[in-house]
Amino acid sequence: MKPDMSLPKASIDEALRLMFETSEDQDVAWKLGVFYLKVPDWLDLEEARRFGREILDPASPLRDIPQYGELEGFIALENNQQTKLALRRHRWDEHYPQEVARFGRHLDHIGRAVICEVFRQSGIPEHLWSEASGGYSSGQGTAFLNFVHYDTSQPDLGLRPHTDYGFVTILDATSPGLQIELEGQFRDVPVLDGHLVINFGEALHFITQHSNRSVAAIVHRVTSQVADNPVRQGIVYFANPELEGVLKQFDVQGREVGGSSVGDLFSLLERKLTNYS
Ligand SMILES: [Fe+2]
Repeated sequence: MKPDMSLPKASIDEALRLMFETSEDQDVAWKLGVFYLKVPDWLDLEEARRFGREILDPASPLRDIPQYGELEGFIALENNQQTKLALRRHRWDEHYPQEVARFGRHLDHIGRAVICEVFRQSGIPEHLWSEASGGYSSGQGTAFLNFVHYDTSQPDLGLRPHTDYGFVTILDATSPGLQIELEGQFRDVPVLDGHLVINFGEALHFITQHSNRSVAAIVHRVTSQVADNPVRQGIVYFANPELEGVLKQFDVQGREVGGSSVGDLFSLLERKLTNYS
């Protein structure tokens, strides 16, 4: 790691393949579980950011989008400053404007590009990728497209330390605050103009565990936000397995060597997270 904490950088080529500047950069990304991705030309980030800003208005009708279970809808987190509008893919067309739903589907392309590169490196035979990822790598699975901001009237951390549970997280943030844990210390991940931050989650770590090359799920947090003009905003996309689904661990010979229901894996992580706070 360089002293200025510059993370490795990747881009997505015309064939929708994830490419790093050097193979060493890719090694670091896989080991840390986090890297920068150059914003592809075809991704209309500005339009999505504009939509995210609409939600800041306390009178915005977007705040009336109903909650669906604990994870979807307009939600203010407990013990964190984060407030979010969160929706899974099958609700995007109903609640998001057309261009925002399209933006979400473009992030699906990025999520798939990342997960397919992880599989390629893992040596797991390609015909098993979809089964291993509960369908995500072939365009199913589930995905969240969330618009977040931070309630500075609360004294809490922006977001408590955690690892993400799913496969891949794509983040666009407008101001500093994200930190990753390295050797027991939290270090800033600076906002890099024209780049998204990608990190791997526990489910991706789990399904690559018995392959040639596993990926790490990094612990991260968001520092307590004080500035509310402008407030820190973010767009977060989670590539996830279906909650009712199953994850399978394959080795490079294609043998199924382990697995878990998504529910069981997530409850295990939930207990670990409780230990953190
Ligand atoms: Fe996270």
